[in-house]
Amino acid sequence: MALSTGNKKIKTAVFISGTGSNLLSLIKFSKLKISPISIDMIISNNAKSKGLHYSKQFRIKKKIYNFKIKSSAEEKILLELKRNKIDLVCLAGFMKILSKNFINKFKGKILNIHPSLLPKFKGLNTHERALKNKEKFSGCTVHYVNSKLDSGMIILQKKVKIIKGETSKTLRHKILKQEHKLYPEAIKKIFNS
Ligand code: GRF
Repeated sequence: MALSTGNKKIKTAVFISGTGSNLLSLIKFSKLKISPISIDMIISNNAKSKGLHYSKQFRIKKKIYNFKIKSSAEEKILLELKRNKIDLVCLAGFMKILSKNFINKFKGKILNIHPSLLPKFKGLNTHERALKNKEKFSGCTVHYVNSKLDSGMIILQKKVKIIKGETSKTLRHKILKQEHKLYPEAIKKIFNS
């Protein structure tokens, strides 16, 4: 990745649509001395995202964008990222697909976390599909974002065992716990910290 940490932390924006438990884990990580990133912005397409309350708690700037006209939302976001000197975007449960144009303008600087062992189960309802497919394992993946859904280069993965009687709820919970560790680990990996 064409990013260097230098002495300062890399200014990062986290994009969310819902609960924001990965956002919280990234905020906690960012406060550690060893973290190469600081979280400087929270961006959401959904004013009702529960995760937005971390903005107040941790004094992080938040912005909400209506994606009815995606191109105009993205233009506004790109401007805001520039204005705030953001150099890394972490998607964390962000339910909108970013356009090629957006991705190209932030090339190699957008990461995502996905709750499956990619390339298996791209897209939605991963846990249900893993169970239906009678998988023995599932897990989570942190990857770079490219223009194809959940298809960019994989940075790190964590496997979890699917046990007898597992439900999508228990599996989601189990994987989410691992996600909270994996995202910071992946960031450490790409910045060698
Ligand atoms: C996570 O499972 C993430 O992998 C997926 O959406 C979920 C978001 O959860 N992309 P949270 O909002 O971080 O709690």
